[in-house]
Amino acid sequence: MKDTSDISAAPVARPRRLRSTPAMRRLVGETSLQPRQLVLPAFVADGIDEPHPIGSLPGVVQHTVGSLRREAATAAEAGLGGIMLFGVPREEDKDATGSCGADPEGILNRALAAVRQEVGDDLVVMADTCLDEFTDHGHCGVLATGPRGKTVVDNDATLAAYAELAVAQAAAGAHVVGPSGMMDGQIAVIRDALDAQGHSDTAVLAYSAKYASAFYGPFREAVGSSLQGDRKTYQQDPANRRESLREVRLDLEEGADMVMVKPAMSYLDVLRQTAELSDVPVAAYQVSGEYAMISAAAEKGWIDHDPAVMESLLSIRRAGADIVLTYWALLAARLLREGW
Ligand code: PBG
Repeated sequence: MKDTSDISAAPVARPRRLRSTPAMRRLVGETSLQPRQLVLPAFVADGIDEPHPIGSLPGVVQHTVGSLRREAATAAEAGLGGIMLFGVPREEDKDATGSCGADPEGILNRALAAVRQEVGDDLVVMADTCLDEFTDHGHCGVLATGPRGKTVVDNDATLAAYAELAVAQAAAGAHVVGPSGMMDGQIAVIRDALDAQGHSDTAVLAYSAKYASAFYGPFREAVGSSLQGDRKTYQQDPANRRESLREVRLDLEEGADMVMVKPAMSYLDVLRQTAELSDVPVAAYQVSGEYAMISAAAEKGWIDHDPAVMESLLSIRRAGADIVLTYWALLAARLLREGW
């Protein structure tokens, strides 16, 4: 047995000193959360007279254009950074090419115009720039018959549709368009089209590292998705981190004004890496499944809701996100106002 009698039990370093009181912890906190860093994703549905609850996202609704307007005003008053809009068309308006997305009278473009009229420049108005909400097959692009008769999502044909969609959204009033379809070359094509149509001030938030994730489940209910199958031929494989370096770099080269990682909590390593690589602001999307998990566990009394929400948001900020898209944006803003 070694003689330990001369070893002092007193540690040399005492990191606990800096955790001793709430004031001390506040003083040394490395990461902060502020309402301006939060973006509220919101759904607007065509053909409904009143807001429609979404079962798998308790507390989140499909808005009417009117209720969305009020939600946007509330978001601006709460000091949020922005609002990201998703359109839910009527079933009969969906088609193979998602044409109602670019229609100025389509639900998303009408909603963008109404929200922009409501908030002006007090809140950054963003639009999801993707076909999946508008196609009758639910894919993020247009389909074609590929080799051996296989149905494939046609990258280059989709780019033309995205360009049209982005221009329509900018014309309707979006400050920011958010291409989320993971087609190769989408940022360059959208940037060119916006510039050519007089929308050089419209910014592009690129969903750069977007994974084929099971955590989008509740979102598919939220937008009444028609998708059969999966998106694994265009969204990234959860096994890959290095690949996201390439996706982010390409989007930066193509002119992205901001880049995004999605989902957030299962991809904090990717987020950290993106924050180190990027010379533009980095966003992370706390997706529907992340919201649903905490909501469901809290509903069962298995975890404490508000602390879990705030910890999740702080962890996303700590990993490197400047901006967080979260369905809890208004709740978090209220908790912060109350001195969280
Ligand atoms: C695609 C899109 C999706 C989400 C945002 N944009 C779904 C998908 O890629 O399948 C998911 C958001 C969420 O789960 O909260 N337009």
